[in-house]
Amino acid sequence: MRNQWLVTIVAFIVLTAGSVLAWNEEGGEKDEAMHLTPDLENGLEVYEVCSACHLPEGWGTKDGTFPQVAGQHVRVAIKQLADIRDLNRDNPTMYPFALPESIGGPQALADVSAYIEQMLMNPDNGKGEWAEGTPEFTKGQELYAVNCVQCHGEDGSGNEEEFYPLILGQHYLYMLRQFEWIRDGKRRNANPDMVKQIAEFSDQDMQMVINYVSRIPVPKEKLAPSADWLNPDFD
Ligand code: HEC
Ligand code: HEC
Repeated sequence: MRNQWLVTIVAFIVLTAGSVLAWNEEGGEKDEAMHLTPDLENGLEVYEVCSACHLPEGWGTKDGTFPQVAGQHVRVAIKQLADIRDLNRDNPTMYPFALPESIGGPQALADVSAYIEQMLMNPDNGKGEWAEGTPEFTKGQELYAVNCVQCHGEDGSGNEEEFYPLILGQHYLYMLRQFEWIRDGKRRNANPDMVKQIAEFSDQDMQMVINYVSRIPVPKEKLAPSADWLNPDFD
């Protein structure tokens, strides 16, 4: 009986803590990190621990286990790192490596995020199965124009100021998992307006729109010269 009460109380605390942490709360470590001047050299040093999973080039993996982090906006990366540290976004694989004990405080977040942003992106990201010209590609493009452009932009480059992630060039399978989690309420730091916008999406709609996003071309100036290019910062 006593144990049941304890379970109820713990569950209550966990649930309310989850709902108190909104998708983008003011203050805290994120705001502190955003106001610091980043040190790219230290960013590279911090990034070494990250490279074990996200790879030295920051390109992640096509199977969607590890996202590409190269080219992401500084403020978006800082927010995701702060959310992961705050347990406002579940990421048990990465959690221990992201803690202050492992990489440092807000300055480390600022430094590593600045390092990530200037990394050149993967010229060969994982894509969905439908090439341009197929009806599924076209339907995905239409869904994107109606439901996504207002936040992620015409070209999928997001919006740094508003913390809307850059999604162009990201792996198809990674985005599919995140999109499904956001739709189904499993990603706690999701943007509530996005959740509303995609609530009626079927699994097929989801695959078509993400297929389209995975095929948006990455702008030349953000792209690495070739798929076998190696990050010269690592030897
Ligand atoms: C042990 C593996 C591992 C390590 C080490 C790791 N990560 Fe991750 N990271 C992941 C995984 C897995 C995800 C995606 C989790 C999910 O599917 O929600 C992720 C997600 C992210 C994201 C969010 C990406 C997005 O598009 O939303 C960022 C940013 C990130 N990691 C940065 C870092 C940085 C910076 C470091 C080093 C301090 C680091 N990671 C270390 C595994 C790792
Ligand atoms: C109201 C603004 C808004 C709309 C509309 C919206 N999104 Fe998002 N989206 C966001 C925000 C904000 C995030 C990041 C939330 C956070 O901070 O963790 C996000 C996250 C994502 C992610 C995960 C990115 C990552 O790196 O983990 C994907 C994929 C995505 N959106 C795709 C879409 C697609 C496709 C559509 C249209 C069908 C869409 N979004 C509509 C605001 C929006």
